[in-house]
Amino acid sequence: MTYFWLKAGHIIFVIFWMAGLFMLPRYFVYHQESEPGSEEEARWVDRERKLQKIILLPSIIVVWVLGLLLAYQIGAFTQGWFHLKLLLVLMLSAYHGYLAAYARKLARGERALTGKQLRLFNEVPGLAAALIVVLVVVKPF
Ligand code: HEM
Repeated sequence: MTYFWLKAGHIIFVIFWMAGLFMLPRYFVYHQESEPGSEEEARWVDRERKLQKIILLPSIIVVWVLGLLLAYQIGAFTQGWFHLKLLLVLMLSAYHGYLAAYARKLARGERALTGKQLRLFNEVPGLAAALIVVLVVVKPF
């Protein structure tokens, strides 16, 4: 019973986390289209902060906590699929960290990447999520 509740909570917060990871680079694109120093730019900085504080940060914490509890419950630490999932999830967490750093740069007025590069970023969470879901459902090894 606990297992199913943990899994339900895990999946719910995975959805929130992924939604945030898709939204933030989109915000960056709109942010970079605004006039430097304008009121609109300040509004994007605020939206990016709120998205991180309200959605992204709580979600990544809950996904990790519930995911590790699930792993403990089913003894996943010795299973091959779980090792690869862990690697992908660590990479996704690093990507999250990179986005947070980019948001701080943008807030300082540094626009390091082009809109095209930021749009390409949206492929990262999509690809990672597809691979992770196949690993947890099919468990090919
Ligand atoms: C952050 C660290 C994470 C850990 C430690 C973790 C660990 C786990 C574990 C142990 C399970 C149970 C598998 C089973 O009962 O057979 C699970 C289920 C699941 N995880 Fe994660 N997970 C993490 C992140 C993610 C992410 C980022 C995604 C998707 C992008 C994801 C998607 C899923 C799904 C869809 C299931 C349900 C699979 C099923 O139907 O059995 N997890 N996770």
